[in-house]
Formats: sequence, structure tokens, C-alpha cells
Amino acid sequence: MTSKAWTWVAVLLMIAALAVPSLFAMDKNSGTPEGIPPRIVADYLRAVIMAHRHFYTIHIVNRLQKEGIVDASENWQATHSLPLPVQLLKETSEIAELTGPDVRYYLISQWPINKANAPANEFERMALKEVQMNPNRPYSSTTGGGERRLFETVYADVAVTTACVQCHNSHPNSPKSDFKVGDVMGGLVISFPLSNQ
Ligand code: HEC
Repeated sequence: MTSKAWTWVAVLLMIAALAVPSLFAMDKNSGTPEGIPPRIVADYLRAVIMAHRHFYTIHIVNRLQKEGIVDASENWQATHSLPLPVQLLKETSEIAELTGPDVRYYLISQWPINKANAPANEFERMALKEVQMNPNRPYSSTTGGGERRLFETVYADVAVTTACVQCHNSHPNSPKSDFKVGDVMGGLVISFPLSNQ
């Protein structure tokens, strides 16, 4: 590369650094980067959300159902049963949204039992296609500007146990009845604002 080309590379790198100050800002005292990239923040959130979902599924819902103490059902409020794991996620996200800095998380699928969980926009449709093809690679986007900048990312939601597959395949409202363990059944969407104003 010529020296002129290197100058251009340096200029472009500087513009990129100015465009994402949070990634490059340094804490003067410790010399460590101040901002954590949004994808890493989403990974942290996902780890906590999934840990709660798995604990609730295995140690509360499965145990109580097996011992015949109580049923889990989507009409849990009307039938005095336990909320399903997906509802634990939905309800806690609503509480987080009310009390916290606009963090949201929910499940979507191109084969939803509940039509309200179908992809709601082009980003979600595209994300479901991408995580279907590459389950280990979350699909992310940043929308809006200024104080309204929002980071959204979708992780593959995989059928980790036969319970996922059995319940969805046999559910009367499920448009798909041949899920197998290991299949991507949908996606976990996590979104949060990039501005702390
Ligand atoms: C006992 C039944 C049951 C089990 C077990 C279950 N689900 Fe579901 N799941 C449902 C129901 C019912 C809904 C729709 C709830 C609603 O939003 O009203 C749902 C919703 C979902 C959705 C959102 C799209 C949709 O279908 O509406 C995804 C994705 C999903 N489940 C994945 C999973 C995965 C992965 C597992 C296993 C880790 C699992 N589910 C276990 C019953 C179940």
C-alpha cells in the first residue's frame, strides 16, 4: 500500500473511533476501556435470563408437575396453575421495562403457538432466518439516533430437551408438529437503549 493509502486508512479509522466513542473511551485513572460493546452487554443479559428460565423449568415447573402438585398452563391466571417458562420471561421483562432503563426481552418464532410471538418487523424476520442458519451467531442491529438509539440482538432459541419438542408438537395452536431436539425453535430478542439519558 502507498503512503497516501495508509493516510486514508488512518483517517477512516479515526472517523470510526469518533463515531463509536463508547468503545474507544478510556478511563483516565485505570487506563482501561470505559464502554462495554453492546453485544457483550447483551451476552451478559442473556446468560442471566437463560439461567433463570432453565432453573424455573427444571426445578419448579417440571418438579411440581411430576409430583402432581400443580399444572403449568398458558391460562395460568384463570386456572390457578403455574405460568409456563415462556411466561416467566414475558412477565419479568415487563417488570424490568417498568423499573429499569427500558431493557426488553421476549421470544419470537416463525412457527408461534401464540400469534403475538410472530416476528413483528423486517429485522425480526431477517434475524430468525439468520439464526436458523447460524445458531451460534446472534443477529444484531442498531436503530434510531441520538437519545433514541436502540440496540437489538436475537439469539437462537434451541430445543434443548424433549419437553420443548413434546409440548410444542402436541399443542393445538402450534403450526409445526415435527420439532426435534436440537432444532432452532425461534429466537430470544434482547433490546436496550444505547443512550443513558
Ligand atoms: C408445557 C408446554 C411448553 C414447554 C415445555 C415449552 N414451551 Fe415454548 N411455549 C409454550 C406455549 C403455550 C407458548 C406460547 C405462550 C404465549 O405467549 O402465550 C410457547 C412459546 C414459545 C416460543 C415463542 C413462540 C411461540 O411458539 O409462541 C418459543 C421460541 C418457545 N416457546 C420455545 C421453547 C423452548 C426452546 C422450550 C424448551 C426449552 C419450550 N418452548 C418449552 C409451551 C411450551
